[in-house]
Amino acid sequence: MNDDSADANLRERIPTAIYSTAKDASAVVAREISDVICSRNAEGNSTVLGLATGSTPTGVYQELARLHKEESLSFAKVRTFNLDEYYGLGPTHPESYAAFMERHLFSKVDIPSDAAVVPDGTVPREEVSAYCESYEKSILEAGGIDIQVLGIGRTGHIGFNEPGSGRDSRTRLVELDALTRADAAQDFLGEENVPPYAITMGVGTILDARKVFLLAWGTPKAAILAKAVEDSISEALPASFLQEHKDANVLVDEAAAAELSRHRHP
Ligand code: F6R
Repeated sequence: MNDDSADANLRERIPTAIYSTAKDASAVVAREISDVICSRNAEGNSTVLGLATGSTPTGVYQELARLHKEESLSFAKVRTFNLDEYYGLGPTHPESYAAFMERHLFSKVDIPSDAAVVPDGTVPREEVSAYCESYEKSILEAGGIDIQVLGIGRTGHIGFNEPGSGRDSRTRLVELDALTRADAAQDFLGEENVPPYAITMGVGTILDARKVFLLAWGTPKAAILAKAVEDSISEALPASFLQEHKDANVLVDEAAAAELSRHRHP
């Protein structure tokens, strides 16, 4: 880890830790999550996690599954809320985020099935806005999100809050950016098969979490990550709103850190 330069602290507006590999960083995040779950479990209290999908958090989920199997980490009192879901996809669709979560985490730990919630992409259009309000209400009734895990899209999105999303946006139906759809094209065997809309938690919903981890791996994320961390806050780059959060933490590998000023102008 190398996050101690005074210059870096001046330019980086979110505390940023650089790790040699995504695996190392993922293990750190999984351990932090596990520590919170263990101390809550010991008090008889539940832990509420906000979860992301995509390639970024898979190492964290793999490590959490390992901690469950090898160190008896129990998810029996954990509740999870996922950030987003493609609109029109149900949990039986292999590219749905519900199916993704089942494959990567829920089927591997002892979380009760009704405690692991992913937005429902099959809600009829006329019921979406009431559904989104009920999603927000469920998070509040669970006590709010203790730890939110985030990736970043090349548009600067967090969740599916594309450029133009406001600081106070809440869970809602959104249209995906062309770049986001292009990035998902491979998973759907062609851009024309990528759903155009999604249900996503809002920027405001994300900022309400008590602790946030934003993760980014690899060269394709380097430019947008540097802007999110170093440029001024703007709706044009929704991840930059994390600069307003008092416990947001960025963890990156060396490749994703390459465009940070401390690397470009050491
Ligand atoms: C996924 C999500 C998105 C992704 C982002 C990065 O639930 O909310 O914001 O985190 O698009 O995707 P990957 O990790 O596939 O590069």
